[in-house]
Amino acid sequence: MKSSIDTKVIETVADLRSWRASVAESSGGKWMLGFVPTMGALHQGHMSLVEKASAECSHVIVSIFVNPLQFVQGEDFDRYPRPFEKDLQFCRQAGVHAVFHPAASEMYPHGQAGLTRVIPPAALIHHLCGAFRPGHFEGVATVVAKLFGLVQPQRSYFGEKDYQQLVVIQRLVKDLDIPVTVVPAATLREHDGLAMSSRNVYLTEDQRKQAPAIYETLQFVVEKTRSGELSLHEALAAGKAKLASIPGCTVQYLEACHPETLEPLAAAAGRMVVLAAAKLGNVRLIDNVIVR
Ligand code: PAJ
Repeated sequence: MKSSIDTKVIETVADLRSWRASVAESSGGKWMLGFVPTMGALHQGHMSLVEKASAECSHVIVSIFVNPLQFVQGEDFDRYPRPFEKDLQFCRQAGVHAVFHPAASEMYPHGQAGLTRVIPPAALIHHLCGAFRPGHFEGVATVVAKLFGLVQPQRSYFGEKDYQQLVVIQRLVKDLDIPVTVVPAATLREHDGLAMSSRNVYLTEDQRKQAPAIYETLQFVVEKTRSGELSLHEALAAGKAKLASIPGCTVQYLEACHPETLEPLAAAAGRMVVLAAAKLGNVRLIDNVIVR
């Protein structure tokens, strides 16, 4: 823990530019800026990205911005948790150099209607989460491209927890030649296997007990196909049935895909990612297991 660092809170684009310029100047160009974009409500999963960034970079900046562009109508934009003081405390304890916390009017001063948007390839965004959240990945790619332009980090950290998002961002920097190294980080889990998420706070006590079933199902699919006991088709069907038998649980998808193209697989492969999204009541949870 680097508690001696006084985390700077930056709310405007102008202040971000001058902070970046002053750090670059004071380090004589010998610096490595690591960037962790977030929507706040920070938990240990987010902080594991910060730790990774701190280990690899001379300076770390975290953005906390609940991006309206990536919320689809009817989603939880208004009630998304925003415990800023607590988040800041986490960042201070972790020795984060700066927190960029802009208002929506700072990020989108001319509103959202006429904004230039980044549209990732259809093959990456029209299935899995994209099928249930139309426009979501355009919103993510647009804000991340904008944040990269503002922060201009050398490295930026993304969790494997949001696997489709990670692939979209990797493709974004490649296709648009954005000079940022995208660094993936493993999913951090609760003791019972539930992937940490800002949305877990919405779960009722009963739903919280049921939630680890998602990870168990993903592991089941991997194990049964690896052992050859079930075909991929059989394992996915059994996995979906297992999840659907939980009262109040709606399975949105359970699929095995190619780890880079996200193309759905018809048969289990040595390299694949098994991904799931399910709703427990109104709480939408996603998770995945990567077979490398
Ligand atoms: P958010 O959901 O706040 O997540 C910020 C980052 O933390 C993402 O890269 C996400 O994959 C990672 N993360 C979340 N839970 C994790 C866990 N349990 N283990 C490891 N990493 C985890 O993802 C977003 O925000 C937004 O879409 C954003 C990229 C900031 C664009 O608005």
